[in-house]
Amino acid sequence: MKPNVFLSRRLPPAVVERLQAASNLLLHAENRVATKAEVIAGLQGREALLCTVPDKIDAEIIASCPALKVIANFGVGYNNIDVAAATARKIPVTNTPGVLTDATADIAFGLLMATARRFGEGERMVRARKWTGWEPLQMLGTDVTGSTLGLIGFGRIGKAMAKRARAFDMNLLYWNRTRLPLAEEAELGVTYAAFDDVLARADFVSLHVAYSPETHHLIGDAALKRMKSSAFIVNTTRGSVIDEKALVRSLQAKTIAGAGLDVFEREPQMEEELYGMENVVLLPHLGSATIGTRTKMGLMAVENLLAGCAGQRPPNCVNPQVYD
Ligand code: 8YV
Repeated sequence: MKPNVFLSRRLPPAVVERLQAASNLLLHAENRVATKAEVIAGLQGREALLCTVPDKIDAEIIASCPALKVIANFGVGYNNIDVAAATARKIPVTNTPGVLTDATADIAFGLLMATARRFGEGERMVRARKWTGWEPLQMLGTDVTGSTLGLIGFGRIGKAMAKRARAFDMNLLYWNRTRLPLAEEAELGVTYAAFDDVLARADFVSLHVAYSPETHHLIGDAALKRMKSSAFIVNTTRGSVIDEKALVRSLQAKTIAGAGLDVFEREPQMEEELYGMENVVLLPHLGSATIGTRTKMGLMAVENLLAGCAGQRPPNCVNPQVYD
């Protein structure tokens, strides 16, 4: 018997084909986020949900879908799901770690480079036909090679970012909840420092902590004031790790030099002032957005989902307590 599955958003073709072959699939095919009512309706009599990060899967949805046996998230972050509510009902929740590490680190390093060397400004000027020719003092940026990168959070993506930075001879500082063994620090060429010290010493600060109540607004007024006025901040994790209003204040007061942002507190909205700032680079949450990566994420989510439907422990279960 094939499981009955609700997929909240169209995913890459190989993923949809795999699901079609392995399940009785109901796809929310419209190119927009499904409403809460649509998710609840879609899950009636269905045991599995494959959802994406803009889908807010709250306690009400979980309580309204009695057949639900597994929630497979398309993404490594899963703060869109009320995991406690799922755990209370013994529903495993899964994510897609690892397969998006390189794509996300690429975007983070790209944002670092784009802010340092003013890609956005330059592009806007050329397209506006305002470029009148080479000038010795035009759009001078900040050197990346040899500068100091401060990594806040040092899991898979933080380490992949460090690997890229090593190729640019950057000095690498990191802060993490748990410090690495000294041998691993030496192998990765990174130096551990206290949170405030990383902020104070870095020319570029890149955020790689997962979002949680503990990391909510980790970067607020106080943290931003610790940074050098010549430093840049890059965010590819979740918007709410930064207090976006505080970031705007800091950019306006020039207590930091610029920001490269792939994520925002209220996507797709953001603080109005950001749209008009030349020294910020703004991307529409593209961290994992390559066809190869999104396909791998989708296939991983499907494997998790099918395991959950079969009553097995999914390979990437984030609430293993449901099996206690
Ligand atoms: C995706 C992400 O864009 O994995 C994550 O946590 O933020 C991105 O890779 C998102 O998950 C889409 O559902």
